[in-house]
Amino acid sequence: MMHVVYPGSFDPFTNGHLDVAERASRLFDRVTIAVLENAAKKGRYLFSIEERLEIIRASTKHLPNVEVEAFQGLLAEYMRQKGLRVIVKGLRAVSDYEYELQMAHLNRQLNPEVETLFILAATRWAFVSSTMVKEIARYGGDVGRFVPPPAARALRAKFQGGN
Ligand code: PNS
Repeated sequence: MMHVVYPGSFDPFTNGHLDVAERASRLFDRVTIAVLENAAKKGRYLFSIEERLEIIRASTKHLPNVEVEAFQGLLAEYMRQKGLRVIVKGLRAVSDYEYELQMAHLNRQLNPEVETLFILAATRWAFVSSTMVKEIARYGGDVGRFVPPPAARALRAKFQGGN
C-alpha cells in the first residue's frame, strides 16, 4: 500500500496541479493533497484555507483515491505525524528544479525517513502557475483554460464579484 502526500499552497489549484494529482492517483494507492495553512503566510494567499480546500475537493472529486486536507508547520513534521514517507511534487521546467531540490534536501535533513519523488507535469501546463493565473484573472483575462472550473469560478467571484 503506497500512500503519498502531494503538498503545496495551491493558491489556487491549476490544471498543472490537477495533472500531477491525476498522474499520482494512477501510480499510487492513495494520495493526500496537503494544503499549507501557515499563519505567517496568511496575508500572502488570495484564497483562505477553506476556499483552497473546497476548490481542490471539487476539482478532484473524480479521483476516488485522492483526499484533501490542510497542514500547518513543517512538512517534514506533518509526514512524521501521519506516519508517511513519500512526498510527491510536480516539476514543470528546469527553473522549478533548484527550489524543489533545496526543499527535498532540507526535508530529508528534518526527517530522514522521507523521500521526495518528482512527477513531470504535462507539457501543455509547463507555463501555467498560480501566480500568473491570478494576474490574468485580476485584469479580467479568461483563465478557463488554465484552471479547473471550480478554481475559475472562484477567481471570477474574487475579482469580478460574479459567480
Ligand atoms: O506551492 P508550493 O510553493 O510548491 O508549496 C510549497 C510547500 C507548501 C510544499 C512548502 O512551502 C512547505 O512544505 N511548507 C511548509 C513549511 C516547510 O516545511 N518548509 C520547508 C522547510 S525545508
